[in-house]
Amino acid sequence: MIRKATWVDALAIASVHVESWKTTYSGIVPDAYLETLAVGEKQTLWEKVLRQSDHSVFVAEENGRVVGFVSGGPNRAADGLIAKYDGELYAIYLLKEVQGKGLGRQLVQALVGDLTQKGIHSLVVWVLADNPSRGFYERLGGEKLAEERVEIGGKALWEWCYGWQDMQTMNE
Ligand SMILES: CC(C)(COP(=O)(O)OP(=O)(O)OC[C@H]1O[C@@H](n2cnc3c(N)ncnc32)[C@H](O)[C@@H]1OP(=O)(O)O)[C@@H](O)C(=O)NCCC(=O)NCCS
Repeated sequence: MIRKATWVDALAIASVHVESWKTTYSGIVPDAYLETLAVGEKQTLWEKVLRQSDHSVFVAEENGRVVGFVSGGPNRAADGLIAKYDGELYAIYLLKEVQGKGLGRQLVQALVGDLTQKGIHSLVVWVLADNPSRGFYERLGGEKLAEERVEIGGKALWEWCYGWQDMQTMNE
């Protein structure tokens, strides 16, 4: 089941966020950095995010338990080609055991529906080039727009930006 998140979901989202970061980025981001991730800190951040009306957040539930989430809103890029896209998918994370069953696509559909209602029609997402989940965005028709060097936990990594001029095409 996919539903809109409320502020009471902050702890559950934070738990999925930390757990999925650890399984997704093990071997990509330094272990020492992953070990510093704390559910309590993320919970505080999510409590703030969930109070911001320009953020759209949806959760995926299985048997009453939050197993994944997506968040998005206005594009944070200030200038250049990427800023021409009005929306951004900020984060999407599922627990490892529920990946590959269509929940990611359903979460993206929910986000796209909500952003469309808010007058947003195009979308970008940033993803680490080493993350195999890049294939998900490519499967949804994302076009590579840019790449940027980022540093996480003292390690230099590439981040790629994918874009959809018309995000309705993601649903095809
Ligand atoms: C990326 C993620 C959200 C995708 O959600 P999911 O539920 O696993 O994906 P779905 O089952 O909805 O897949 C939808 C389509 O994308 C394809 N797909 C999914 N992951 C893929 C991958 N890594 N490579 C290529 N294709 C992929 C599926 O095969 C499916 O195609 P189909 O419609 O032809 O069957 C999820 O796997 C995840 O949470 N991964 C770890 C966290 C992560 O990397 N998040 C992104 C950070 S930027």
